[in-house]
Amino acid sequence: MEDEKRNPDSLPKPHPSILKVIEQKKRLREKLSGIKHKIGIYSAKGGVGKTTTSVNLAYLLKEMGYKVGLLDADVDCPNLTLFLGINDTLSGEYPLMPVEKDGIKILSTAMLVDDLKAPIIWRGPMIGKMISEFFENTEWGTLDYLIIDLPPGTSDAPLSLIQLLDLDGFILVTTPQHISAVNTIRSGGMARRLNVSILGVIENMSDGSGTGGREVAEKLQCDFLGSISSDPKFGRLSDSGKIPAQEDKEIKNEYSEIAKKIVGR
Ligand SMILES: Nc1ncnc2c1ncn2[C@@H]1O[C@H](COP(=O)(O)OP(=O)(O)OP(=O)(O)O)[C@@H](O)[C@H]1O
Ligand SMILES: [Mg+2]
Repeated sequence: MEDEKRNPDSLPKPHPSILKVIEQKKRLREKLSGIKHKIGIYSAKGGVGKTTTSVNLAYLLKEMGYKVGLLDADVDCPNLTLFLGINDTLSGEYPLMPVEKDGIKILSTAMLVDDLKAPIIWRGPMIGKMISEFFENTEWGTLDYLIIDLPPGTSDAPLSLIQLLDLDGFILVTTPQHISAVNTIRSGGMARRLNVSILGVIENMSDGSGTGGREVAEKLQCDFLGSISSDPKFGRLSDSGKIPAQEDKEIKNEYSEIAKKIVGR
């Protein structure tokens, strides 16, 4: 009995498909070794400002001198390119080459479709396959930070990312409202269950109407990274492809405090 325990050959062999998944993760670890930090910007709640946070933090990190990449993991509803005012499409050639704007490497499904307004209607396995393309067949080169903008929900996209990558962890985004905090806590619960770190929580659209950010931090026992005030300038600037943190000093200061905490970890 003791001998059996010690001898790995006597243990049941995992199914080949499990081995395949483990192999893929190993392969990607090697392929992506030039990327120092991979951080997902996440909440199960829609519309809380995940894309806004991803874009503004990426620009702040770039300004601090880091090499930054920005990946849109919202595969079926990609809108990162709209926030960035990018209209580029990628040629049909491999490997996929992220589009560079203001020194940031950017990749989104939006660059792979002809009509941005046409719906992309895919089941989970297709979403997972696309996310895998973003790493298996993409030339990211060397980066200090890859910021990954996630869609809402707790299923396909975050699961695929967790399965494929050694993430540093998730930064959670919530609004001040209790309902938003509850859904964001759900995202944290999912991360914890799958052994992914929670790097902290950001309260976006802060207006004194609630304390959602603190609620999430307390419940998940994670860092509260800071608040971003609610400001109608966000909508106006993002709709015209401008970066709020570059256009407005107060907005920049708020993101800057958060970026410093991320870098100082
Ligand atoms: N601090 C803020 N103040 C005011 N408006 C904001 C703020 N942050 C984001 N917004 C606006 O809120 C809307 C939703 O933001 P965003 O698209 O970033 O959310 P999201 O969480 O990525 O949404 P989805 O779940 O659909 O991916 C956008 O119109 C954006 O301009
Ligand atoms: Mg979004």
